[in-house]
Amino acid sequence: MNAPVGDTFATLSMESKVVLFSLAFVWVYLVITAVLSWTKSAARWIYDLLGFGLDEEEMLGIKHHKKGGNRSKSKSKSKSKSGNGGKVNKPAGDAASSGPSETPLGVGQQREGASSVVPKKPSKTHKKPQHAAEKNHPLHINTLKGHTDAVNMVSFSGNGSTVVTACDDATVRVFRLDGGATCRAPRTLRIPLDRDATGACFANVAALDDPAATDGIVVMGTSGLGETRLVSFAIYDAAGKPPEVRWDKKSAMDGKTAISLSCGGGGEGLGVGGAPIRIPPVAVCSSDSTGVRVWAVDSGVEIGRFDTLQFKNHNAAVSMDGNMIAVSTFTSEVKIWLVLRSRQGAPMGVDSKRAAMTLKGHRSAVNWVQFSPCSTRAVTVSKDKTLKLWNLSVRYDVGEDPKVLASVDLSDECGAGRMPTRVALSAAGVAAVMIGNSLVFYKISHGLAGTSVKLARVDAPHGSGAVVKWMEWSQTPHAIDGDAVEVLATAGSDKRVSLWRSPRS
Ligand SMILES: *[C@@H]1O[C@H](CO)[C@@H](O)[C@H](O)[C@H]1NC(C)=O
Ligand SMILES: *[C@@H]1O[C@H](CO)[C@@H](O)[C@H](O)[C@H]1NC(C)=O
Ligand SMILES: *[C@@H]1O[C@H](CO)[C@@H](O)[C@H](O)[C@H]1NC(C)=O
Repeated sequence: MNAPVGDTFATLSMESKVVLFSLAFVWVYLVITAVLSWTKSAARWIYDLLGFGLDEEEMLGIKHHKKGGNRSKSKSKSKSKSGNGGKVNKPAGDAASSGPSETPLGVGQQREGASSVVPKKPSKTHKKPQHAAEKNHPLHINTLKGHTDAVNMVSFSGNGSTVVTACDDATVRVFRLDGGATCRAPRTLRIPLDRDATGACFANVAALDDPAATDGIVVMGTSGLGETRLVSFAIYDAAGKPPEVRWDKKSAMDGKTAISLSCGGGGEGLGVGGAPIRIPPVAVCSSDSTGVRVWAVDSGVEIGRFDTLQFKNHNAAVSMDGNMIAVSTFTSEVKIWLVLRSRQGAPMGVDSKRAAMTLKGHRSAVNWVQFSPCSTRAVTVSKDKTLKLWNLSVRYDVGEDPKVLASVDLSDECGAGRMPTRVALSAAGVAAVMIGNSLVFYKISHGLAGTSVKLARVDAPHGSGAVVKWMEWSQTPHAIDGDAVEVLATAGSDKRVSLWRSPRS
């Protein structure tokens, strides 16, 4: 019997009991918090111990801004050159104009590198040392010039005639490839940001309400403190008309850092009764932890957010039809979520309670996922040294999961710390894969069509020390020497964007 304690407690006044209870509560709370934070650091420690830490992210080219840390010298230099003391730019007003002899409009916005954005005259005396892959490789067809720091993303417009790039020199550039992918002096539009541009893609925002606008783009920027900003612009081909900001989310991820941006939709779909309707686009960002957020591009309204619960995100991709979101993560499974739309096609949300489909079959972390241009396939590359093509035309509503259509063994290209980090699939079924520092092209075949074959390899496409940060196929082939040729764009840490023709199979 523990009567003494009970007796003592019973004799206490009401106020003392309340105080005792509060103290006990605070104590329990502190213990729980301590245990939780200890578990978290223990998990991180085990994570690092097993070799899953930052090395892998560095190999994947995923960028980390350290909170409170200093930016690299080149970045602070480019920032001071912008001459506005780090103040938030108003991108529309400050944007550079398009036109053959590019003239930046914004006072105090011109950077040193500006004059090199568009070569005014193809001068023969000014010879730049070209690097080997560019000069010698028969698949290399063009270099988009003017970037003064690492290029994080490159994306084609729907008809392939325009390319947008996001660069660590705090600038988004729009290149108009008049005359096709081999165009030597594309007209260039520069859009300055107040921070590193980490993503940029086309999302046809302007289709309905402004016939003068030629395209819509969504731009992602990340500040030195890791804050992600998302801005939507309408851009115009008319000379001198600056891009117009449609919406601007200054803290799109509530202080978190987004590591990938993807846009899908904007095309036509079938409405009620089979009438063609426009399917408004959505934009998706994956955070450097496990969060994913989705916005309706027309309105800028955030329509959904979910957590992958898979340790660590790699990239998030939206299908071309704007209806599916796939996220590659630190685990071997890729989950696919559905965008919920109204009967008129408007994006309403994300079915975030559970993933609609799971791609099961890899044996190790999936480093990258992309949808095929027709949105019925997905392609993945994994640390298990395989590429897999998945059939998404399944009855997921009754629990059927996508099957592997083709699995390509990449191990002959891996080894010695080389693993596949990026993949992009063309409409004709050519997969471009970054493996270590090589760009390797495979013709992917499945079923009766036979086995997949390696078509070509480009070693060090951006030079020996450089990382390819992004690659993307043009959805529309380009006319080159009378042929319709699929074109791949690669963006590198070497301040270059290169265009490559698909190898002949
Ligand atoms: C950033 O760099 C500057 C100069 O290089 C230095 O004075 C400053 O203390 C650094 N700040 C941090 C947070 O490291
Ligand atoms: C591609 O589309 C843009 C508008 O987005 C248009 O200005 C351009 O003429 C088109 N180019 C071709 C080759 O169709
Ligand atoms: C994809 O899966 C569906 C459903 O299982 C099947 O009907 C279809 O034939 C598959 N497509 C291919 C190319 O195997």
